[in-house]
Amino acid sequence: MKADIAVIGTGVMGSNLARNLARQTGHRVAVYDRDVARATTLAEDFPEAEFIVATDPADLADRLAGPRVAILMVNAGPATDSAIADLAEVFAPGDIIVDGGNSHFQDTIARGARLTGTGIEFCGVGISGGEVGALLGPSLMVGGSPAAWQRLRPLLEPIAARAESIAVGDGATTEDPDAAPPGAASAESYYPCVAHIGADGAGHFVKMVHNGIEYADMQLIAEAFTLLRDGFGMQASEIGEVFEEWNEGELESYLIEITADVLAHVDAATGRAFVDIVADAAKAKGTGAWTAQTGLALGVPAPTIAEAVFSRSLSSAADLRAEGPRLAGPHPAAADASAAPVSSGLTGDERRAAIDEIGRALLLGKVMAYVQGFHEISTGAREYGWEIDLGALASIWRAGCIIRARLLDRVAEAFDSSTPPQTLLADDYVRDVAARCQTALRSTVVRAIGQGIAVPGLASTLSYYDGLRSAAGSAALIQAQRDRFGSHTYERTDREGTFHTLWSGDRSEVQL
Ligand code: 6PG
Repeated sequence: MKADIAVIGTGVMGSNLARNLARQTGHRVAVYDRDVARATTLAEDFPEAEFIVATDPADLADRLAGPRVAILMVNAGPATDSAIADLAEVFAPGDIIVDGGNSHFQDTIARGARLTGTGIEFCGVGISGGEVGALLGPSLMVGGSPAAWQRLRPLLEPIAARAESIAVGDGATTEDPDAAPPGAASAESYYPCVAHIGADGAGHFVKMVHNGIEYADMQLIAEAFTLLRDGFGMQASEIGEVFEEWNEGELESYLIEITADVLAHVDAATGRAFVDIVADAAKAKGTGAWTAQTGLALGVPAPTIAEAVFSRSLSSAADLRAEGPRLAGPHPAAADASAAPVSSGLTGDERRAAIDEIGRALLLGKVMAYVQGFHEISTGAREYGWEIDLGALASIWRAGCIIRARLLDRVAEAFDSSTPPQTLLADDYVRDVAARCQTALRSTVVRAIGQGIAVPGLASTLSYYDGLRSAAGSAALIQAQRDRFGSHTYERTDREGTFHTLWSGDRSEVQL
């Protein structure tokens, strides 16, 4: 019996995706790994999956029914290139190679272009949800030709997360593979989180931006935690309770949920809060930086995302941080369970109000990270010629992926409406959040600045927000300076045209 689909690379993500595919009735899955023993062990560990283990690329091609479909789950970069080269030698016209890794969208475009002429289709599919998502239902962002999508759709829809299985939440979650989607009256009442995003690199482009939003969201959450810890002297477990409460309301999201869980966790070796024994230096694999770099290249302001990337770099800049304690300014107490709690100087009610304020600041920050991300996606779509359905994209981010959040229901509704907003910033819900939360964001940032607590995500969000609101900002002076030193020209507020002032002459103005 031939396999319907192959998974190449049997690391944790590849193994879990292969198991997810094998669980679907009627799917026979072939697995291949350069380390054949690893693929063999996977098949032995999960006999119920009935994996077909291929020993080399030619064997793999032989064991797949045509037109063949193989999903690469290998490291982004050279490993992906060499896996594609191996398959290109044994695959035939009409076969499809899918890259399911976190590849840069421009690499995906280039790889597809290199296969042109072979007749082999190349698709870049963004897969979000981590290890658990790969096994139980990820969110899948497909880039490739419409024909390839038609072939992939019946294979990917059954393995994708179901949006309402999380949104309804009657106790069952996507973490239970055998659970019927909660609240689903029929199969039609829930939504498989997979969509065709556009040609070539579109799937990996939106996955990149997904990760940029993920970075921003994580940074904003981490800042809220730091404010509660250093500004109010709260212990991790208490802060966890605040997050748990927040997760019951408008802030409800996977990242808030896991934050509450992490903060409640106690280190077995020391008996201290787990977060207090984790080294304060964040790592990154690069997708957040790509989102910031692409934003810069496209002229899209994405400061909350960029600050999130810089904050991780700052946290790991050991040489600079070693000098930090000698720099002047207020130094909030570090997270140390044995240190005396910092007094916020607030009464109980005031403290409660200030905590609520931080929650509202976080909500506005989160919403603005989405505004920045969607702005980058629509600008990227224009630049690269993709017609991206933003409503469908928001819908498939409602479950399975790392940035899934209650507020995405509202984003999806906005973009799916008969009068979709030109930008998310024009959406009623976004405006309403801004109206309800901007004062809280302002006072939270002011408080943090006074206390010497770094809040680059929240502060840059506020500057972004105020920058957008301002009818007359600082750019007019920048343009005037540019014309003054470099004859770079300017536009006027009162007349059409491009102008230059003869600064070193009689200072008269010429129209160009
Ligand atoms: C996802 C995640 C996934 C990965 C991040 C981690 O959507 O499932 O985003 O892709 O966990 O890329 O990124 P960093 O290691 O850069 O934090």
